Amino acid sequence: MIEVDLKIKTDNTRRMIEEAKAYSPAGVIGDGRWYEPYPLFIKKTLGSRIWDVDDNEFIDYHASFGPAVLGYNDPTVRAAVVDTLENEGVLSATPHPKELELTRLFSQIIPCGEKTILCGGGGSDPMYNAMRVARAYTNRTKLLKFEGGYHGWHDYLTVSVRPSLEDAGPADAPNSVSASPGILQDTVKQVVVAPFNDEEAVERIVEREKDNLAAIVVEPGYSGGCPVMKLSFLQLLRDLCDRHGIVLVFDEVVTGFRTHLGGAQALLGVTPDLGVFGKAMANGFPISALTGKREIMSLFQPEGPVFFQGTYNGQVLGVVAALKTIELLSDGEAHKKLWRLGDKITDELNAVADELEIDARCYNFGSIWGMYFTRRPLENYRDIANMVLLNRDNPKGYAMKNHLMNNGVFVTRSPRGFVSTSHTDQEVDRTIDIIADFCRTHQEDLR
Ligand SMILES: Cc1ncc(COP(=O)(O)O)c(C=O)c1O
Repeated sequence: MIEVDLKIKTDNTRRMIEEAKAYSPAGVIGDGRWYEPYPLFIKKTLGSRIWDVDDNEFIDYHASFGPAVLGYNDPTVRAAVVDTLENEGVLSATPHPKELELTRLFSQIIPCGEKTILCGGGGSDPMYNAMRVARAYTNRTKLLKFEGGYHGWHDYLTVSVRPSLEDAGPADAPNSVSASPGILQDTVKQVVVAPFNDEEAVERIVEREKDNLAAIVVEPGYSGGCPVMKLSFLQLLRDLCDRHGIVLVFDEVVTGFRTHLGGAQALLGVTPDLGVFGKAMANGFPISALTGKREIMSLFQPEGPVFFQGTYNGQVLGVVAALKTIELLSDGEAHKKLWRLGDKITDELNAVADELEIDARCYNFGSIWGMYFTRRPLENYRDIANMVLLNRDNPKGYAMKNHLMNNGVFVTRSPRGFVSTSHTDQEVDRTIDIIADFCRTHQEDLR
C-alpha cells in the first residue's frame, strides 16, 4: 500500500487553519481551496514560485487555478496596473477608452468574437450571461453540458459536476445530478447531461432534446479534468448545433489565452457561437468576458432586451491587466514556450512510466498537464472519477502530491497543473526528476 505523508514544516499553517475554522467554512474561502491533509497558507507568489507561512518555497503548478500564465505577479502587467491606479483611478463604471480597446481586440483575435461584454470578476459571471442570452436567442430552455464539466458556481450549470457513480445513472445516458442543496429541482431538470467524447450518445441525446435545447456548453480541451478530447467530437457538436439551431458555447475560462491567443477555438479550428473567457486573460487580475456572434450578443441590454448589469463590469484595472497580458502573449513566443514545456513534461514522464512498466500516463494540452496512475484510456468523467482529487481516496495521487510538496513542488488538490512562461527548463527538469523519483521508489505499488 502506497503511503507518503506530508513532511515539511507546517506549524504556522496548522495554527492558522485551526483558527480560521472559526471564521470561515472549514477555514477556506471556497471548496476548491481545501485539500488533504490541510491546505497550506500562502504568503507570497512571484513568477514560478510560491511561499507559504512556514517559509517553504515551492516551484508552483497551481497558478491560482490557471490565471498565472505569465507567472505570478508579472512585473510588466503590475507596472501597467500601478500606472493606471496612480493616474486614472480604480473604477468609474462608465464607458472607458481602454474597455473599447479590449472589446475591439477581442473581435480581432477571437474567431467567434464579434461583440463582447466584460464582467468584473471570475469566469462564472459571463458563463451565466451566456446561458441567459442563449435561451433568449433560441426561445428554448434546456442546456446540455457534459458529465464532470465545471462551468462556475451559478445554478444554471451546477449539475453533474462531480456526481457519485451511484447517482450518475447509465454511462451513455447520465442522470442530471444536482451538485448542491439549495439548487431548485426545476433548474436541474433544465440541464441535460451527456458523456464527454461519446459521439453516438451525444447525437442520440441531442436528437431527443433538440426542440428544447438552447445551448450546448463544452470546455474545448482538458474538459472537467478529462485530459483527452477528440477533435471529431468537437466538430460533431458544431454540426449538431448548426443542424438544430442550438447555440454552441465554448467555456474557454481555462483554455482561453493559455493554449493560443485566439483560444482553443483558434487552435482547433472549430468556432463556437459564444466563447467565455477569464483566468489567463489578465494573468491574475479579476476580469472576464463573453464574446460571440453579433446577432446573439446584440440581444444584451441596452441594445436588446436581455438583462445585463454589474457595477464592476469592465473594471479598469482588470481591463488594463488584460490588455498588457494579451500584448505579452501576442508574438507567439509565449505559447511556443508553454507548449514546449507542457509537451516535455508529458514526453519525459511517459518515458519514465514505460521504462518502469508502471500503470501511469501523463497528459497535457499545451501548458495544462497532469499525471494519472492508470493506462486505461481517459475519455470522460467516469474514467477519471476516482482520480479527480489528489486526496486519500486516491492513494497514488495523494502520495504523489505529498512527495511533490515534500520536495518543493506546489500542487493543490487536482492532478491538473499549469506551466507558466516564468518556468525555466531547469525547474521543469527538476519537477520531472521528482516525479520520476516517486515512480521509481513506488514502482511495485504503481504496477
Ligand atoms: C472551465 C471553467 N469554467 C468556469 C470557471 C469559473 O470561473 P471562476 O471561478 O473564475 O468564476 C472555472 C473555474 O475554475 C473553470 O475551470
